[in-house]
Amino acid sequence: MTDLEAIYERHSVRQYKPDRIEEDKVKELKSKIDELNLEGDLHLQLIEDAGKTYNRLINRASGLGSAPSVIACVGKDSEDLDRRVGYYGEKLVLFAQTLGLNTCWTGTFNRKNTEADIPEGYRLVICIAIGYGKDGGRVRKSKNASQVSEAAGERPEWFDKGVEAALLAPTAINQQKFMIRLGVDDKVEFIDKGGVLSQVDIGIVKCHYEIGSGRLV
Ligand SMILES: Cc1cc2nc3c(=O)[nH]c(=O)nc-3n(C[C@H](O)[C@H](O)[C@H](O)COP(=O)(O)O)c2cc1C
Repeated sequence: MTDLEAIYERHSVRQYKPDRIEEDKVKELKSKIDELNLEGDLHLQLIEDAGKTYNRLINRASGLGSAPSVIACVGKDSEDLDRRVGYYGEKLVLFAQTLGLNTCWTGTFNRKNTEADIPEGYRLVICIAIGYGKDGGRVRKSKNASQVSEAAGERPEWFDKGVEAALLAPTAINQQKFMIRLGVDDKVEFIDKGGVLSQVDIGIVKCHYEIGSGRLV
């Protein structure tokens, strides 16, 4: 499965089977995490036993309490930390999808109960639930391309493909509060229109856009 195929396959999954992730897949995930941490200067961590990360009522109600494992998204605190977490975290989410695993980004979890390693000066931004879903999730409502993108001149095919992939990006409460702007010089900008965890969203959107358009921004 390619990353683009993974984008189309992925949906947030909140109900998980009790099965643990097999050792060989844990190894693959950890090696991908090492690679992404190096590239993004992050401290993402796979916590194999989610423990009581999702014991809040809201998580139990949605089913997330069933997630066997969790990825803690930690990094040295900086202005662009949330954005980097979104960008590299989504690369990991898509990689997990290619391994047949399911995920859900979660801004809501029990901070006190995570086993994450958070050194001095570092921050735990968000967690990602991971495991084998009871199903693969479902297609949800989405804005359309004209609501989230604008171009100064012609819209090249690669731009439209990038926007299409960006519309499939997970965003907090499905807010999709972003704008992708194509300038005259083919320069692409991602505009944050605000909202909860919107900088994490922007990083995720950029990841999808780059894969869809086949161009790095
Ligand atoms: C930054 C962020 C935070 C999220 N937080 C939660 C959460 O706390 N609980 C939850 O059930 N889903 C959460 N989600 C999942 C979104 O609700 C989901 O991505 C959105 O509804 C779009 O659906 P899709 O992922 O299936 O495309 C979050 C997603 C993102 C990107």
